[in-house]
Amino acid sequence: MKSIYLIGFMGAGKTSVAKELADILSLKNYDTDREIEQAASKSIKDIFAEEGEAGFRETEGQILKKMPVEDAVIATGGGVILAEQNRFHMRQNGTVIFLQASIEEILKRLSGDDSRPLLKGKNGQAAEELYHKRLPLYTEAAHYVIDTDAKSISEIVDEIMERLKK
Ligand code: S3P
Repeated sequence: MKSIYLIGFMGAGKTSVAKELADILSLKNYDTDREIEQAASKSIKDIFAEEGEAGFRETEGQILKKMPVEDAVIATGGGVILAEQNRFHMRQNGTVIFLQASIEEILKRLSGDDSRPLLKGKNGQAAEELYHKRLPLYTEAAHYVIDTDAKSISEIVDEIMERLKK
């Protein structure tokens, strides 16, 4: 089957959902952030610090295109949808699922987490602005939108399975 790309804002649950979904469907599981870290032999944090966001985005685009287009569930980084060619690549080659969460829920999930360079040292308003700027891009890239607010990972996976059957 065509690969499944999970997209959505930081804290949407893409990594956990991808793992469980891949298990259930007996598909391979990838996470573009981890692949980027392996390819660069450094952490996302260090890539941002040393190469800036532009350097990170370039590697992200290259890694995305190296991911298998068959039989994989791929968790992507929250900003993968910023590049038009990434949105096009995912839509053309796979099934794209947007894990949507409200900004309130996202802020709750990310509070105290300083692993995301784009949010480090920023207040909730900055995250909210970024969220609203990106929302149309997630929607544009997605074949399906799954609302994740107040749902467990298993519930989200069940919903995706139902959607894929239709
Ligand atoms: C980013 C999201 C992160 C990671 C990087 C940039 C973004 O991934 O790719 O910090 O621009 O939204 P997660 O969405 O897995 O946190």
